[in-house]
Amino acid sequence: MQKRNTVAGIMAMKKAGEKITMLTAYDAAMAAMLAASDVDMLLVGDSLGMVVLGYDSTVSVTMDEMIHHASAVRRGAPAAFVVGDMPFGSYQSSRRDAILNGGRFLKEAGCDAIKLEGGREVCGTVTALVRAGISVMGHIGLTPQTATQLGGYKVQGRDIESARKMVEDALALEKAGAFALVLECIPDELGRIITEEISIPTIGIGAGVHCDGQVLVTHDLLGMFDKFIPSFVKSYCKLAPAIKEAVGEYNEEVRSGSYPDKEHSFSSESNLRKLLGL
Ligand code: KIV
Repeated sequence: MQKRNTVAGIMAMKKAGEKITMLTAYDAAMAAMLAASDVDMLLVGDSLGMVVLGYDSTVSVTMDEMIHHASAVRRGAPAAFVVGDMPFGSYQSSRRDAILNGGRFLKEAGCDAIKLEGGREVCGTVTALVRAGISVMGHIGLTPQTATQLGGYKVQGRDIESARKMVEDALALEKAGAFALVLECIPDELGRIITEEISIPTIGIGAGVHCDGQVLVTHDLLGMFDKFIPSFVKSYCKLAPAIKEAVGEYNEEVRSGSYPDKEHSFSSESNLRKLLGL
């Protein structure tokens, strides 16, 4: 059986110069396929809201929805390192709420760690969570839960002042006890500087090649979600048109009566009608 990764193992990968891969998963079937493909970490992201649940943003996602999907991911990938994403409103109100909700990811869904968005303003919460035994991954740069305050979904840290603030946020999160940091949508040189300045791994999404690892929304990687495709996304295949084509063929065959054919049907006594007395 595959050995489950650990926080220490993920942190050691940075020291060893090994790139880290992380992908989102929201259900058991996909989690099983990703785990079989040897990805280092699975993130049950609150992108769930847009990618799977049909919400307009991540803000609507509830703690119960996250637990429901994280539990499914754990069932599908028992040996994977799974990170649960704290949804909007689950950690901002108090450190107590953060610990209770973070604890739910570990106790109810079997996650290994949690992720939350924010810089210095969440450092007290991060320390409280880590002291309570909950491993925390930070997330700075473009933070979707507060995207409206950041002027929408756009590149962050382009000017010197915001770039300096981001480096300071990264250092503060490391000091607070975060074991890794997602850097979203920032210039690649800033990604390089933060990666060099902190000793915990950086996981980039639209943050350039110098990060210690990369994360993508799996539906984007597979070309399954075409509502909004950020420019940093590389789709490694195009499943949406393939699915459309397959379903079109199915519709056609059902309507013409060519499916199910003999090969896809169960045979019975040829005189069944007679035997049934009908
Ligand atoms: O919710 C999510 O999927 C994320 C990643 C894109 C980092 O936060």
